[in-house]
Amino acid sequence: MKILGIYWGMCSTSSLFVDGNIIHAVSEERFTRRKNEDRFPAESIKSCLLSAKIKPSSLNGVAIASMRQPFFDTLIHKYSSFSIQDYIREQKEYWYPKLIEKKEANLYAVFADRVDKAQYPTNYWDTALSRSGTGFDIDREGIVADFLGGVEIPVQRIEHHRSHAAYGYYMSPFRNDTALVFTIDGWGDGLNATINIFEPGKEVQRVFSTTTANIGRIYRYMTLLLGMKPNEHEYKIMGLAPYGKGSIVENAYRVFVETLYVDGLDFKWKQQPTDSYFWFRDRLEGCRFDGIAAGLQQWTEELLCQWVKNAVSHFGIGTVVLSGGVAMNVKAMGKIASLPEVKRFFVAGTGSDESLALGATFCLAEDLAGGKEKLTGGKENSCSLYLGSWNTSEEEQAFLRGVRNDPAYEVVDKTTFEFIAELLAAPPLGRGLVLGRCAGAMEFGQRALGNRSIIADPINPAVVPRINQMIKNRDFWMPFAPVVLDSYSEKYLINPKRITSPHMTVGFETTSEGWKAMPAACHPADHTARAQILYHQDNPALYGLLQAFAEKTGRGAILNTSFNLHGYPIVNTIADGWDVFTKSGLDGLLLADSLVLKKRTQASGFEV
Ligand SMILES: [Fe+2]
Repeated sequence: MKILGIYWGMCSTSSLFVDGNIIHAVSEERFTRRKNEDRFPAESIKSCLLSAKIKPSSLNGVAIASMRQPFFDTLIHKYSSFSIQDYIREQKEYWYPKLIEKKEANLYAVFADRVDKAQYPTNYWDTALSRSGTGFDIDREGIVADFLGGVEIPVQRIEHHRSHAAYGYYMSPFRNDTALVFTIDGWGDGLNATINIFEPGKEVQRVFSTTTANIGRIYRYMTLLLGMKPNEHEYKIMGLAPYGKGSIVENAYRVFVETLYVDGLDFKWKQQPTDSYFWFRDRLEGCRFDGIAAGLQQWTEELLCQWVKNAVSHFGIGTVVLSGGVAMNVKAMGKIASLPEVKRFFVAGTGSDESLALGATFCLAEDLAGGKEKLTGGKENSCSLYLGSWNTSEEEQAFLRGVRNDPAYEVVDKTTFEFIAELLAAPPLGRGLVLGRCAGAMEFGQRALGNRSIIADPINPAVVPRINQMIKNRDFWMPFAPVVLDSYSEKYLINPKRITSPHMTVGFETTSEGWKAMPAACHPADHTARAQILYHQDNPALYGLLQAFAEKTGRGAILNTSFNLHGYPIVNTIADGWDVFTKSGLDGLLLADSLVLKKRTQASGFEV
């Protein structure tokens, strides 16, 4: 069975499901180079079909994630174009009158200058606007069918949280076992959290849903309150939180605990805020920024842990999966993983809405199979997120032809793992270079997993400000993360349940040996690490490189951060990698077969 999955919204994405597994998935931003691209995912659809060399008519169906999608948000490209100031304007000119003054408010009127009727499908928006966007939800089915050449196959919308749950479960190691699957996010199809039981051979049961689990929404607007971009920079608040200590945290924490609490399986209000921004702004006035981040994070962790704990006890199922945007909070995921009630735990990479394009295909496959039987089977490595395109050797060589005669660069052909390990290893064992790796299939999702990554030796903390300032222009407080060889994970990470974390979804406490070996890839304030634990079958080429690095240095981990300039999507092609390489202080560009080094870098001043 072949199903195309589409999510058209914040970070539009397409995926291709073939016989039980996702074989290709990519977000539109990787082609348009606009972060969180929310336009119609035309290029990613083409990439999916090309990857399997199939025509739309060979598909059994198309799954469009989410029954509903906000029309005006799409029309004005809210998610790919809004600045922090735009989000504040939305609060002041739309939400404040609507929620606090209880007046009529019109988002279209506020952002009329942002309307883009030239986007695909260009002949649609005028008519849709004349009826204020009514019907857009359903119209998406026709728009997709037309794009695919008028296919006569089921083109079906799939409910938002059902897609989140299916993604979490079917892309976990538990897909043939019974599991309790939690979804929690900002909002989708009228809900913000669900609990589901997946059991082999049985229909999926949604055993709980709610509209009150407002953690994601509150976290989003606290991100804005702290001067960062909502829907995107929540991870920066999480990264800031460990710096908050003592009474500074207490004052802010008290504001949050006076709002939402967990009661059994549900969330209830002690005091319901009038809105998610101004209400908190008034009460948090005078609280220090790191205290707000820490208080918010502590409250988030406590609520999520209590919720999962109650549900595990209620249903008697200790195998737990989390999905949805709130599951991106790696620190909270680490706390849940540590709960004694939770026996086995998994969070699929990138639980936010782009993963709906993947989850929806599993749901449609269930429906087309009769809706009564859940999908079983699937390949052993069904969790892999190396689902994008890769550059062939021919493409690599063709690109390098233009570089070989440039006196500023040195091309090294047929590199070995040992050679790269020596370049990465900090002096005196090696040169301590920082390399951009653009090799193998591109990762799906927000986190680079080694194939589109900037890598370095994690032993030397001096590499952190160097990467931050010269390469990524990142925020000074944000930690990097390690890729840890499976054989070193017990030495470096406190992980008594041996939770698999191939996608950097869990924040682990580190051992003293781990902290000593990789201080540049841990959080400096609390020594935790959102590690990608690397298994050979997941990425043999990266594994070989880490093994050679471990043999050279005795350290079974490398520092990993996504290969992009700040505010831009992760690189896709070699040309994208080259663009970042030449605009930054990166020492080298590592491709599948070759390496390009700058003959002299500002950072290291070395000669090749
Ligand atoms: Fe969602």
